[in-house]
Amino acid sequence: MEASSFIFSKNNKTPNTGQFTWSSPSNIALVKYWGKKENQIPENPSISFTLDACKTTTTLRFTEKEHDDSFSFDMIFEGKKNQDFKPKIETFFKRIEAYLPFLRNYHFTIETENTFPHSSGIASSASGMSALALCLMSIEKEINPAITPEYFNQKASFLARLGSGSACRSIEGDLIVWGKHANIEGSSNLYAVKYPYQVHDNFKKYHDTILLVDKGEKQVSSTVGHNLMHNHPFAQQRFTQAEENMTKLIDVLKTGDLKTFIEIIESEALTLHAMMMTSMPYFILMKPNTLEIINAIWAFRKKTGLHISFTLDAGANVHVLYPEKEAADCIEFIKNELVAYCQNGHYICDRIGFGAKLRNN
Ligand code: PMV
Repeated sequence: MEASSFIFSKNNKTPNTGQFTWSSPSNIALVKYWGKKENQIPENPSISFTLDACKTTTTLRFTEKEHDDSFSFDMIFEGKKNQDFKPKIETFFKRIEAYLPFLRNYHFTIETENTFPHSSGIASSASGMSALALCLMSIEKEINPAITPEYFNQKASFLARLGSGSACRSIEGDLIVWGKHANIEGSSNLYAVKYPYQVHDNFKKYHDTILLVDKGEKQVSSTVGHNLMHNHPFAQQRFTQAEENMTKLIDVLKTGDLKTFIEIIESEALTLHAMMMTSMPYFILMKPNTLEIINAIWAFRKKTGLHISFTLDAGANVHVLYPEKEAADCIEFIKNELVAYCQNGHYICDRIGFGAKLRNN
């Protein structure tokens, strides 16, 4: 599919008013996206687990307005009018306008809330942007009821990508690929797709306990981080490594080889942070307790032989990953030994999920 396939063709009358509510989850990358070209095109393919508990619910109300000169919207976040997110939404609307020309015809009220606390250091852009993209697609579907569920999801992912790259991986579950990869049929730089090959039972119901090490605002945004991959001395090797890790994962996911799975995903997490530490300017998002947790996980894994592992996103929090059949022992270890490293003892028990849901309106 080309980007032009997502240009809106209006067959019917637009509704005067209405509303839609979608809940959309966050996701955690196993092979990381870090570095992009123009128009949010990733430098390398990535693959993620869709999460279940960490999600954003967004209600989009729309009313036709008289003049279609500018974008018009109010943002209500957790029950209160919020101006902070407005520039991000304005930029999003500008980027997607060519694909949804009805945007200027309406006044929108965007009411949104997260299941996770705002000040948790968990990025809400993936769940937030995907929930909004889905609400907008519901309007398109009302105008063009003939669009297929496949087109609906692909275009929702395409639009979400233009809001925040990784958001395109939050529409469906449970394993999602974004970015063209020669060995993954149907993969695209424009939108994410469900991982199309066999997945071993070891990876079903996988757990992700998110340890909230630092709930503060990140010192360096992911936008800045992505840009620092331009002229980065190790960029090309990194993009090649990600391609290779995707290839290796295909076999690992099929055979259920947890040992190699752990090697790939932990290396991916540390490489992501190594890219941050070796860019110019350089920066460090891990905190002392991030390292304490990583070392404790390695020691426990060595002692018990359990397949507990970690990954990181662009922050200090640690995602502790473990298979369903070892969950009881891993949870006990987390509670006894890792929660002490969390800010105010806060952590979130999540697991692999199956994507966004339309709520009854
Ligand atoms: O979607 P962005 O632009 O916030 O970038 C997300 C980047 C990582 O979370 C670090 C990696 C990923 O693939 O999700």
